[in-house]
Amino acid sequence: MPALILDNISKTFWTGVYGFQKQKKIIENINLKVFENEVFGLIGLNGAGKTTTIKIILGLLKPTTGHCTILNGSVENRQIRNQIGYLPEAPYFSRQHSGRELLNFFGSLYELTGKKLRNRVDEILDVVQMRHAASEKIFTYSKGMLQRIGIGQALIAHPKLLICDEPMSGLDPVGYKEMRDIFLELKHRGTTVFLNTHDLNEVERICDRIGIIYKGRLLKTEEMSHVLGSTHLLKYWIELDQMDFEQIQNWPVPWIKNQDGIQIEGDQLPEALNRLASQKIYPKSIRPLSSTLEAFFLKAIQDFNEAKDHEKHF
Ligand SMILES: Nc1ncnc2c1ncn2[C@@H]1O[C@H](COP(=O)(O)OP(=O)(O)O)[C@@H](O)[C@H]1O
Ligand SMILES: [Mg+2]
Repeated sequence: MPALILDNISKTFWTGVYGFQKQKKIIENINLKVFENEVFGLIGLNGAGKTTTIKIILGLLKPTTGHCTILNGSVENRQIRNQIGYLPEAPYFSRQHSGRELLNFFGSLYELTGKKLRNRVDEILDVVQMRHAASEKIFTYSKGMLQRIGIGQALIAHPKLLICDEPMSGLDPVGYKEMRDIFLELKHRGTTVFLNTHDLNEVERICDRIGIIYKGRLLKTEEMSHVLGSTHLLKYWIELDQMDFEQIQNWPVPWIKNQDGIQIEGDQLPEALNRLASQKIYPKSIRPLSSTLEAFFLKAIQDFNEAKDHEKHF
């Protein structure tokens, strides 16, 4: 069952100063389904249109064309809205209150009171690993703690769908790992998550499926397992011994040769290794020059730009 259906969504903004205004297409014809129990990551460069897409999903912006179905209904419907948790890109919480007070407040918005509220807040504090700092004031929190309490407020009413805009941006490595563990836990529990990010490392471990958004267009959606299997898109660095390197200097091969090794495309790897081995040359090390997801992402953008260029010329 889809938890979210974007049907031909476009958004145009007026930009520029009065008298010189023009229309700018920010989102163009996005069609997307996000299924129940999946963690979906919308990835794209800064300015690609990720936040705009989320705001349209949440009903904070009206699409210029198209239609959004969320949890089988409309975001206009309060009952549907109550089943959505949202962590904004830059959440603002009253800093003079404690984390527990903040969660109490959000819980009360969903009409939780008394023991029910206390129990739920305790549960959430455990999920987001904030029990130890629950009584401390929010202004004392680190960026990671702020993001975790932010996820906590989004989870308070057992949302069927959790929507997070750049949940990991600006976190240090420890904060990053803690946040990743929370998402892995949510995934384990079967929470449906839609998240936005420009950080590819973020999604690799967490997401079941990704979408690539570029200049307001959804270029591709793909299962993460398929993305990670696309190793043919990688470039590899093969480090050689100096003597071996000299030996291959004059080989007529399409490899990029450098001081202490060669750089090759992924689909050249088996042949290259064979060829080296046939001359009894064994690499000192072999490593991919990027993550598979990064290669997949860049390839999607490159394909799109090439298709555009082709359109221009013909
Ligand atoms: N209210 C607005 N009016 C005009 N342009 C906007 C508005 N909001 C966003 N944009 C533009 O839309 C593009 C996409 O923005 P956004 O969705 O925030 O990107 P992302 O979240 O992927 O970084 C950007 O170029 C941004 O400047
Ligand atoms: Mg954004």
